[in-house]
Amino acid sequence: MQELRTVAVAAARQAGKLIADAYRTDFRVDYKQGATTNLVTDVDRRSEAAIIEALSQAFPEHRILAEEGGEGSQTQSPYKWIVDPLDGTTNFAHGFPAFCVSIGLEVEGRVVLGVVYDPLRQELFEAEVGRGAFLNGERLCVSRVATLDQALLVTGFAYDQEGRRSNLEYFSRFALRAQGIRRTGSAAIDLCYVASGRIDGFWELKLFPWDVAAGSLIVAEAGGLVTDFAGRAFSIYGHEVLASNSLLHQAMADVLAGK
Ligand code: IPD
Ligand code: CA
Ligand code: CA
Repeated sequence: MQELRTVAVAAARQAGKLIADAYRTDFRVDYKQGATTNLVTDVDRRSEAAIIEALSQAFPEHRILAEEGGEGSQTQSPYKWIVDPLDGTTNFAHGFPAFCVSIGLEVEGRVVLGVVYDPLRQELFEAEVGRGAFLNGERLCVSRVATLDQALLVTGFAYDQEGRRSNLEYFSRFALRAQGIRRTGSAAIDLCYVASGRIDGFWELKLFPWDVAAGSLIVAEAGGLVTDFAGRAFSIYGHEVLASNSLLHQAMADVLAGK
């Protein structure tokens, strides 16, 4: 596992540097599927190319699932890297300082390693299954907030209109119950903030595996809980994520269920 971790951390740092160097410069912005809400920049693509090169050079047999379509080996390797080369592209494109690189490793269907790097704050979040979660080498632990009226929550809104509309109802319910709600624009950062106790709970609809693979392991390894909205087992390929410090989990699931 040590070599896997070392390569993933180095790739995340290298891609993070590339992103930080390009921040607030003149980069190209395109729209995915013609939707003005769904951006991709040439920095997303360059970051992805750098990560894929680093991973496939070290592990030529491994598969890679990356947001912008880059691929690794086409074999049946049980090792699959799951990469978001720039999580928070809309923030990045606007010069809003909240974005990161997210690299997860799935082995036989289970996420075993997660690395999330925020290049502006130089914060490296990481976890290995069964070995705890860390921020720049310091062990992470979720918060101890146990009631919604004391809780700071975070959510995000999907790129498509239907996905956005579905979350409005949940948002208004939580807005009336929680101490506060934030929207950072980076799901991987949201998850790492739950892991570090900066945020007490996070929910979002319609995320993709690359948004949540690394962050969900980091939350779990920091003592938090990650499930679907009904409290059932979490899958990075599912459409719902509910992550919390575990103490708030039932209360959040109840609000999502309309109770
Ligand atoms: C997005 C961010 C955002 C979330 C969106 C994601 P991207 O990822 O994680 O917080 O609300 O649903 O798609 O496109 O910036 O990598
Ligand atoms: Ca993303
Ligand atoms: Ca992305």
